[in-house]
Amino acid sequence: MATRNESTDRPCGIDFGGTGIKAAAVDLEAGDFAADRVRTRTPDPSTPEAVAEVFVELLGQLPQSHGPVGVTVPGVVRQGVVHSAANIHKSWIGTDADALFTSATGRDVHVMNDADAAGLAEVRYGAARGRRGLVIVTTLGTGIGSALVHDGVLVPNSELGHLQIDGRAAETRAANSVRESENLSWEHWAGRLTTYYRTLEELFSPELFVVGGGVSKKADEFLPLIDIETEIVPAALLNKAGIVGAALYAAESAR
Ligand code: BGC
Repeated sequence: MATRNESTDRPCGIDFGGTGIKAAAVDLEAGDFAADRVRTRTPDPSTPEAVAEVFVELLGQLPQSHGPVGVTVPGVVRQGVVHSAANIHKSWIGTDADALFTSATGRDVHVMNDADAAGLAEVRYGAARGRRGLVIVTTLGTGIGSALVHDGVLVPNSELGHLQIDGRAAETRAANSVRESENLSWEHWAGRLTTYYRTLEELFSPELFVVGGGVSKKADEFLPLIDIETEIVPAALLNKAGIVGAALYAAESAR
């Protein structure tokens, strides 16, 4: 872990998704943005080189941030190398994103899975703060992202949105994008989520589920309808979780 000093106190988090790229300087004491977030559209095609150019621009708009930069991507990331690309350009697969972004920006960049970043932030600052044992954070969005955190330690790349249930990847039945495209009622969707979370319960016996993603703002509509044994709560950091978690990860992995 890096020692606290000025250069790690204002790291930056960048949330790279299929439609937008958002960045903010992060105050690690508060677990919050240190100043307003900046955002831009994801370039099309969203190749690694095009995205690196956008990062340079965005970092130029964040004078409050210095030191390490954490980046979230919607895919598997091992040791800085991207191994899957659900909603982004396929050329990401096999790219050493840590090396590419570090050389493009001149900053110390650390890339991680988007749901892992959100999970880390929820455990450190949000809905699962101080919780021991296994916490599973799921993000319900275009796909389903997941983070497994045990006693505060992240086990990365769990990819539980791809769990096969009745012969189909869970996210193709229960992601929020499916609720929208199939125009499902809250009750109907909660039925699908019940099947999903019961499967996770059976396999992992967690202490707590945290539900994130944009739709967690409407948790009152569907969380009470999910019929499981385990405690399940909405995320607290909402759309800040990815950026805050990535900045924290970068500060703690700083070279
Ligand atoms: C991807 C995950 C990602 C999740 C949420 C899934 O389709 O495989 O890596 O965390 O979507 O973006």
